[in-house]
Amino acid sequence: MERTSSKNIRVLLSVLQFISPYKLRVIFAGIALIFTAGVSLSIGQGFRMLVDEGFVLGSVDNLAKIVGIIFVMVSLLAFGTFTRYYLVSWIGERVTADLRKAVFNHVIELHPSFFETNLSSEIQSRITTDTTLLQTVIGSSVSMALRNGLMFCGGLVWLFITNVKLTFLVMISVPLVITPILIFGRKVRTLSKITQDEIANVGSYVGESLHNIKTVQGFNHQETDVLQFSQQVEVSFVVAVRRIRQRAWLIGIVMILVFSAIVFMIWVGGQDVINGSITAGELAAFVFYAVVVGSSVATISEVIGDLQRAAGATERLMDLLYAENLIQPPANGQSLQEDVQGMLSFNNVTFAYPSRLQVPAVSQLNLHVNPGEKLALVGPSGAGKTTIFELLLRFYDPQEGQILFDTFDIRTLDPKELRKHIAIVPQQPALFSNSVWENIRYGKPDASDDEIKAAAEAAFAVEFINKLPEGYGTYLGESGIRLSGGQRQRIAIARAVLKNPKILLLDEATSALDAESEYMVQLALEQLIKNRTTLIIAHRLATVKNVDTIAVLEDGKIMAVGTHQQLQKSSPLYARLAELQFKEAN
Ligand SMILES: Nc1ncnc2c1ncn2[C@@H]1O[C@H](COP(=O)(O)OP(=O)(O)O)[C@@H](O)[C@H]1O
Ligand SMILES: [Mg+2]
Repeated sequence: MERTSSKNIRVLLSVLQFISPYKLRVIFAGIALIFTAGVSLSIGQGFRMLVDEGFVLGSVDNLAKIVGIIFVMVSLLAFGTFTRYYLVSWIGERVTADLRKAVFNHVIELHPSFFETNLSSEIQSRITTDTTLLQTVIGSSVSMALRNGLMFCGGLVWLFITNVKLTFLVMISVPLVITPILIFGRKVRTLSKITQDEIANVGSYVGESLHNIKTVQGFNHQETDVLQFSQQVEVSFVVAVRRIRQRAWLIGIVMILVFSAIVFMIWVGGQDVINGSITAGELAAFVFYAVVVGSSVATISEVIGDLQRAAGATERLMDLLYAENLIQPPANGQSLQEDVQGMLSFNNVTFAYPSRLQVPAVSQLNLHVNPGEKLALVGPSGAGKTTIFELLLRFYDPQEGQILFDTFDIRTLDPKELRKHIAIVPQQPALFSNSVWENIRYGKPDASDDEIKAAAEAAFAVEFINKLPEGYGTYLGESGIRLSGGQRQRIAIARAVLKNPKILLLDEATSALDAESEYMVQLALEQLIKNRTTLIIAHRLATVKNVDTIAVLEDGKIMAVGTHQQLQKSSPLYARLAELQFKEAN
């Protein structure tokens, strides 16, 4: 219990830190809040005057005057409420926007292995759903709690001032009225939560089948899917009906309890009015304050649930916001010289992925590549070729050994600075739902259209880009046109051309390429690798014949290094791979 409360305080402090830039607005909102609470409470006195000095005295003048006063009060209330609502909601939205940005800014820099243990869909829902919850709390629940707290205290004071005997009656009956309402309310809320989960399940079912529509139809799986989907929908219907039934009960019970309590009060108080111990106006004011006190208790207990849920949501957000970045620029980092050479060395590098620490993906690796040299990595699937690229890009740091870029251990460099000099052409390049222009511009965000065209030219991509429906303006990726493997690679090559790096990492596409694209990709690559230190994961004989050195990998170890001719004689593994023409996909 103690631990959760200290946790809650930590969560609260971190939220305050996001609210603090808007102190002035918070202060004004607070003033508006106190003001409206005061005005609402004084409306009860307006009622008292209305009854006692208007109706009972039978004075039309008085009546008009008091109606005027009540109207002024209501106007003040409206003005105060407007101000409070605007400011408080503004703060809620602003803090949510800031928090969303802060979390995304942090998460997008985190080391890639973070996303192996934290699903991206989960992170996405935290940034959207959890922040929305927090927004509700800051933008309404907290102010509701405060306002009702004030109303409760003020209302209670007025009750005592108005009539002590009746006040004790209220203090006994409020819990009697509120408790059953709260219990039912909680049940309804649990059921709405279950309904939401069921709807989310239905949604993800639809998403998955539609996303893989070709697999679904190709295996004639529609009937099974339709059946399973209809079961899901029916389950969510049943849950919804349970919720509706509870809710209907809730509404009925609220009506009976609240009105019986009020009628009971009028009955008891009415006798006092008749025997003259209180005035009719006092009774009217009393009923008003009793309703205020009762409803503020109800509201506060509702809102406490919101606050608890928001504390959980905030904690999850803060976990993200303060997640430690394992790949960071060192405190006293070194800077590369302007004219980097592009020399690479692996010295005794051993590395295991965090999710598979027992099995090193690369062990005791030694490699040296001189500036401008071309090195091919060959080896069976799972040998550790891609891992070498990921280590070079510092997506992971090795457990042992060091990797040198020119003369610097890459751990002493800011990863951003290191990556500025490296371009990678992956086997399955990622396209974003954006135009061809922007997809190529990924390599250099400030590139002009002419530079992009030149890069596309150098990547032998112009021929197919011009055939796209809107040329360079065509949308690619998720929501646009999907490109073939060879076309994707040429987009990725254009990106690399535009980036113009010292070091080039190529993961050759294999089976994805037909003979013609293979030829085009080959031409593009030959241009690209000129004058750059290049590491190529080679699947094609044509590639390995043109490089300076070939390293043969198996199980994360280098088995042999040499030229094509040398290795064919000295390495049986290489000879076997060469025979298969490096054709297997991995
Ligand atoms: N993110 C990862 N987490 C855990 N293990 C991985 C990860 N990526 C690759 N591996 C494992 O590391 C080994 C080397 O993989 P990889 O470098 O991709 O091989 P290659 O590119 O030569 O086919 C394989 O056994 C693979 O299963
Ligand atoms: Mg690979």
